Amino acid sequence: GAPVQADISKLEPGQRMTVEWRGRPVWIVKRTPDMIERTENFDPARLADPDSQVQQQPAYVTGPLRSIRPEISVLIGICTHLGCSPLFRPNPDDVDMTAWPGGYFCPCHGSYFDLAGRVFRNVPAPANLEVPPYRFESDDIIIVG
Ligand code: FES
Repeated sequence: GAPVQADISKLEPGQRMTVEWRGRPVWIVKRTPDMIERTENFDPARLADPDSQVQQQPAYVTGPLRSIRPEISVLIGICTHLGCSPLFRPNPDDVDMTAWPGGYFCPCHGSYFDLAGRVFRNVPAPANLEVPPYRFESDDIIIVG
C-alpha cells in the first residue's frame, strides 16, 4: 500500500484522529504533558513488555513513549489478540482500575494498553500495539508507511 499523509495541524492536545493505511486504522494522538508524564512514570511491572523487547515498532521509535516526538503517538488501532479495535480511554477516571494511566481498552476479551500502546500483564493480547513506520514531513504533516 502507498504511504498516507496525515495533517495534524487541527489536532488538539488530548485528542485522537484516525487515518487509514493498508486497510488498517492508524491512530494519531496528541498527548498532553500530563498524559506523557502518566505514561513515562507508569509502573513497568504492570506491563507485559514495557521496554518493547518484542519488535512491534520501527527501530527509530524507542523508550516508554514509543514515538518520535513525545507528544505525538502513532499506533495501529488493532488489538494484538484477535484484531478488534480497542476503545480510547485516555483519562485516569475512564477505567475502573487503580492508577489507570490512560490508554486503550479492548472490549472483545478485556485487554488493556497504555497511551504508548504497551500491553498490560495478564490480558489476552500477547503484544504491544504496533507502531507503523512514519516520519514527519513538516511540523504538521506525518507520512505513515
Ligand atoms: Fe482484543 Fe481479544 S481482540 S482482547
